[in-house]
Amino acid sequence: MKISGSFPQIIEPELSGAPALICSWIDSNRDTLFYILNTSGAILLRGFSISDNITFRKVCTSITPDLRNYIGGDSPRVAIDDQIYTSTEYNNDLEVLLHNELSYGGWFPNFVMFGCMQPANIGGATHIADGRKILKDLPKDLVERFSRNDITYLQYLPDKNHTSEYGKTWQETFETDNAQQVSGHLIKSQIKYEWTPFGLRTRATRPAIQIHPHTLEVCWHNQADQWHRELSSIKDSVFRDSSDACDKTAGTKTFGSHACFGNGEEISADDLLKIRQVSQKHEVLFNWQKGDLLILDNILTMHGRKPYSGERRIIVAMS
Ligand SMILES: [Fe+2]
Repeated sequence: MKISGSFPQIIEPELSGAPALICSWIDSNRDTLFYILNTSGAILLRGFSISDNITFRKVCTSITPDLRNYIGGDSPRVAIDDQIYTSTEYNNDLEVLLHNELSYGGWFPNFVMFGCMQPANIGGATHIADGRKILKDLPKDLVERFSRNDITYLQYLPDKNHTSEYGKTWQETFETDNAQQVSGHLIKSQIKYEWTPFGLRTRATRPAIQIHPHTLEVCWHNQADQWHRELSSIKDSVFRDSSDACDKTAGTKTFGSHACFGNGEEISADDLLKIRQVSQKHEVLFNWQKGDLLILDNILTMHGRKPYSGERRIIVAMS
């Protein structure tokens, strides 16, 4: 096996390789694989022809067997197999900005794995960035504000029977029609909630920074800039009825989302724009090849998606 020193670290066979080769290499070199992940934060398996859902699932479970459903996630995705989803259904001409998967949620995955079934003709990179570097590069006073106050993510999700929908319904978000089950999940996750005749309001307070459980390094780990109602983001593209959104109460009184500090104070747009600027500076892009599998440590490494044209099929699993 050849292992590069780049970001992401690339692991590829000396000659052409079959998926079975990487599964047996993972079985025998598990410590090496996780050592690389814990230091680099991103590994690209290339040249093993991981180019269909079943093979992708098999390789993912050989890396980490406990794949999870995308419970509580806000990105529009289609489930294509058990715990395997399309990476996102957001329009191809829009950028998904850097974020840590489910950093706002009742849980977040340790690892996010993307498989390239079909690269786009133009664009469509899954850009990545090292959350340790972003944290070090942000102004100290900004980091102190976020670190001291945490972030509260506010969300108002419509019921599927409500005629005026905004983005994903609560049923789609939690992958069930059972409200009691959703309440149980939210209680367990320490997320405050309120059912209304139109849907579900949630209020989750989460740290802005996470400490990696193995390396004990501190990492920027949130997506406040993408939840804030005053900053444009790809989330705006799922408004289906402007009467219910685009107003100063999105996430509280009307459908949509918002982020404030944990003590209820508003986050300034200047802080959020600075975060976007610094994050962008640390973006790393690579060109997808069909059959690639990208493994991300979801604490160390943030990810996003560049706009593209043509066919593109990237699938995802989380654990
Ligand atoms: Fe994501």
